[in-house]
Amino acid sequence: MRETEQDKSQGAGAAADTAVDQLSVAQAQAELVRLAGALAAANRAYHTEDAPDISDAAYDALKRRNAEIEKRFPELKRPDSPSEQVGAAVSDGFGKVRHAVRMLSLENAFDDEEVTEFDQRIRRFLGLSDGAPLGYTAEPKIDGLSLSLRYESGRLVQAATRGDGEVGENVTANALTIADIPQTLAGAPEILEVRGEVYMSHADFAALNARQEAAGGKTFANPRNAAAGSLRQLDPEITRDRPLRFFAYAWGELSEPLATAQMGAIKRLSQLGFQTNPLTVRLDCTADLIRHYEDIEARRATLGYDIDGVVYKVDDLRLQERLGFRSTTPRWAIAHKFPAELAWTVLEAIDIQVGRTGALSPVARLRPITVGGVVVSNATLHNEDYIAGRDSNGALIREGRDIRVGDWVQVYRAGDVIPKIKDVDFARRSAESKPYIFPQHCPECGSVALREPGDAIHRCTGGLICPAQAVEKLKHFVSRGAFDIEGLGAKQIEMFFADDLLPIREPADIFTLAARDQANLAKLSNRDGFGERSAKKLFAAIEERRRIPLSKLLFALGIRHLGETGSAIIATHYETWPAFEAAMTAAQIGDGAEWDDLTGIDGVGAVMAASLVTTMQQEAERASIDRLVAQLDVQESRRVVADDSPVAGKTIVFTGTLEKMSRAEAKARAEALGAKVAGSVSAKTDLVVAGPGAGSKAKKAVDLGIETIDEDGWLALIGGA
Ligand code: IVH
Repeated sequence: MRETEQDKSQGAGAAADTAVDQLSVAQAQAELVRLAGALAAANRAYHTEDAPDISDAAYDALKRRNAEIEKRFPELKRPDSPSEQVGAAVSDGFGKVRHAVRMLSLENAFDDEEVTEFDQRIRRFLGLSDGAPLGYTAEPKIDGLSLSLRYESGRLVQAATRGDGEVGENVTANALTIADIPQTLAGAPEILEVRGEVYMSHADFAALNARQEAAGGKTFANPRNAAAGSLRQLDPEITRDRPLRFFAYAWGELSEPLATAQMGAIKRLSQLGFQTNPLTVRLDCTADLIRHYEDIEARRATLGYDIDGVVYKVDDLRLQERLGFRSTTPRWAIAHKFPAELAWTVLEAIDIQVGRTGALSPVARLRPITVGGVVVSNATLHNEDYIAGRDSNGALIREGRDIRVGDWVQVYRAGDVIPKIKDVDFARRSAESKPYIFPQHCPECGSVALREPGDAIHRCTGGLICPAQAVEKLKHFVSRGAFDIEGLGAKQIEMFFADDLLPIREPADIFTLAARDQANLAKLSNRDGFGERSAKKLFAAIEERRRIPLSKLLFALGIRHLGETGSAIIATHYETWPAFEAAMTAAQIGDGAEWDDLTGIDGVGAVMAASLVTTMQQEAERASIDRLVAQLDVQESRRVVADDSPVAGKTIVFTGTLEKMSRAEAKARAEALGAKVAGSVSAKTDLVVAGPGAGSKAKKAVDLGIETIDEDGWLALIGGA
């Protein structure tokens, strides 16, 4: 469980009552800003600091709302989109381990309908009819922390936490102290990575806390924290003293398959000596999955350890392989989560935060309140209308009850929505309370905050002169996924931004800061928190980032509507900065070859394209970008693919009906083999795969003399790949 309180930036703890399909673009965008901030803070607290500040349910709700908004407004997906991230960066102290196979997260479902949708999505992807047999496993979702155990020749050689999914912490010495983790295996594949959950039972947790308290040590808020804190001890002898347990439920690298089905693989793991969850079953339809979920939910309190849902996985491993992965989650699994709760508290203040794009976000400061074991102290109030009790179309929310400072408000956390202020208790409203008046000026720079017609969000018009916007942009620039400069985080950015002697006001300043000489070193060394050594260290960290992949640079620029995924797509398409820059400089919105080329990229919509062109052609903005790029060595972006892929680097267009696999599967396969999949045919297309009913695209391919093959030809081409 994540507990204690919501972080300051958790504004997003509460969102509008507005259903996603009723959000205006501006509302959606503002909400995504808050969600990214809230989720990043929650991730840090949970993964890096082992001190969760919101509940799992609250976290899931945030992530889910984010995913829903991104789904409806793909062009608004943020550079730091939380949906592209698993967990948080590893903390210092342990060695780092790059996972041979990425450790993934799970998509969540919060009601029966979403489970049905999951099943239907899979059927569509695989081209299975509704009645075709499709088996699943169902097992409890253990509330602990995941661990990957690597065995070579039957010997445990490495244990690693998930970390950010790619790189985790080496906790081998600690894992060796856990009784449930076999140190040697008989009859195992030569290479076997077993994955599962480290957890602590309720009884052991209570006993540990009692022991800790008696010894005057730190007590833990819940079993998950206790398990995480115990596993990530630098001294393995402390871990040995802690009653940790382990359930195996998945695997990473394997030298040979464990079985042909999930259920068989779990049995094999059990035979090899691992604990597997006894409530794991194989079922044939979603109705049975839901019955099993209800059964497990009813037994939840008696299990003796924390679970927070039920995980469903496609049983047939060949189908799992065909289904593959999205960026951070498998298509073949979902976590059906248990619902969360409601609580009343006092709204003590309303603060306004100014984001990178100038959006003014009202944040409710709440008297801290426990909601199902979770302390919540902030919630987003979304926008002026939301506070007033209206949605973006003027319809009433909370039956029109407005929200005022001093009110008793109900903090609402349910599965399918972000925690939000569900209601206001008018009976407890003070006679002196006054309606909240939304500021008409930016609290940071004093510029007029404009609310454009049709937009629910007030935006600061200060642009580059607004320090809040500039600082937020810089914070984004140095964030993880962007330049990620060690020693230059949000706190340091604020310090340097405010500094007169050695200021950082735009990204280029970071690199001129390090470019030099003793003079700057001396200036920095005299600063609070900086000695000569740490100053040198910072300069070295900055130097290290001068060489940067194109995709990261694009992402770091914080261009509106350009997320991490979008940046990667754009980078792969243009490959070099000069090519990108030339295209953006020449492009005209809505017209011409460059525009067609840009919007022809699969995954690039008109909104993202227009934002790119506008930014790159805006004089002041462009000058600042040019100053930055002059400082950098921008690396080409090329896909890393297997050398033997026949379609690596090729641009492919699928058109017409595919009969042997769905379009989604064809696209996923092509991309996995290093091809680019485009939405329209142009001179840059290398290959068109045309099924029956192919129309204008196939014709255009003929006109342009582009090789065109049918589905069988395509399957033959990629062969056993
Ligand atoms: S399967 C590729 N099964 O939940 C799929 N995960 O929210 C890998 N978890 O990171 C995960 N119980 O730490 C799986 N029975 C279970 C699980 C489980 C708990 C955790 C795991 C994962 C997280 C995703």
